Amino acid sequence: MKQSKEEPKIPVFIQTAFPAQPDLDNWKQIGEEEARIVYEMTLRNELSGGTPVVREFEKSWREWLKVKYAISTFNGTSALYCSYFGVGVGPGDEIICPTYTWICTIAPALFLGARPVFAECDPETLQIDAEDIRRKITPKTRAIVVVHLWGNVCDMDRIMEISRETGIPIIEDCSHAHGARYKGEMVGAIGQVGAWSMQGSKALSAGEGGMVATNDAEIFERACLAGQVNRLGGIDLSTEKYADLQPLGLGMKFRAHPLGMGIATVQFKKLPALNSRRKNYVETVEDQLKDIPGLSPLKVYPGAERGGYYAFPIIHDPNKNKGIPTATLIKLIQEEGLNASASPYGLLHGLKLFAKGFDIFTHERGPLSGDYQGYQEGDFPVTEAIFQRLIFLPVLSDPVPGAAEKVVEMLKRAVNKALKE
Ligand SMILES: Cc1ncc(COP(=O)(O)O)c(C=O)c1O
Repeated sequence: MKQSKEEPKIPVFIQTAFPAQPDLDNWKQIGEEEARIVYEMTLRNELSGGTPVVREFEKSWREWLKVKYAISTFNGTSALYCSYFGVGVGPGDEIICPTYTWICTIAPALFLGARPVFAECDPETLQIDAEDIRRKITPKTRAIVVVHLWGNVCDMDRIMEISRETGIPIIEDCSHAHGARYKGEMVGAIGQVGAWSMQGSKALSAGEGGMVATNDAEIFERACLAGQVNRLGGIDLSTEKYADLQPLGLGMKFRAHPLGMGIATVQFKKLPALNSRRKNYVETVEDQLKDIPGLSPLKVYPGAERGGYYAFPIIHDPNKNKGIPTATLIKLIQEEGLNASASPYGLLHGLKLFAKGFDIFTHERGPLSGDYQGYQEGDFPVTEAIFQRLIFLPVLSDPVPGAAEKVVEMLKRAVNKALKE
């Protein structure tokens, strides 16, 4: 982005995507086509409701995923809220959720009165550990939310086996993994319901937007009741069950902004090419890590195909690098000119909200008060240990020729320096 030389007069933040390493990446996330559709929709005053562009986008989403139902929402958080509401989450319930994810994965469940029960990740993939899910199930478990973290894919066979055995529905948070697949199926179409963010930094941007998709009419209709006030009357619902509540549903409004869906329509067309460029770059770097002591790629489960590539973590083993701390190595990599970093997110159990609890509904009625036990450091030894050893490399979306090789060279030089120190 071109920044004006003048200091902004008010504090600002912009959360759309820009090249993570501008000298190695030609990518421009938004172009003429996105601008044109917004311009044309605005002149048509197509600015509110289930407009033709919104409806067409939802239809494309259904076809892409091969699911029966899909509805747009104003962001990924509201898509998750509608998904939780869709599967019947309510006060007193427990939701199993990875501790390694973004807060918005679980926050909507809190507002429905449900308590998070965090789970470990598999340290080789960073995805929720299916065995730990099993250990955390209680009679109160109402749903399991799995997150295809950083664009990698969860162990869906084992997760769906748990769902079949227990009857507990799986919500797939696909906000990092647009277009990822597992054994040929699109992520988000495997669990009982899928939710996506299309926030401006994602592989598919609506600026702000979200999607919910499912094959289950009951989940879908409840998801619509939760947030589609005044747009449903007869057009979305497929059964008569909630007909007498239409067209207002429950009066909540999480409808997508049509202009965002217009932008998403263009971005959706660009997604396959974006995913393929990101995949080529990531795999080229990963292939060459074998020549660098102490650095290795994440594992991908058999049959999984990554997508979205929201971030590019690799694993550092200090034991193979004279015990040099990962934070020190990250500094050395940065000194070589590569925009590497530690994890952009912390672990949820370390946030004060979940560690200490919070009286959400006041008078000690909420899911994080009363008998809520909280969390402390050490509760998730596997995730905590691997978290300390992650190095995030820039995701290049339209790499200049030789970019992957340059990234590898910078990593090599940094490790060599570390070993000499
Ligand atoms: C894993 C995950 N879930 C949910 C969300 C929430 O999406 P949104 O920002 O569109 O509300 C995000 C956003 O970054 C996310 O990364």
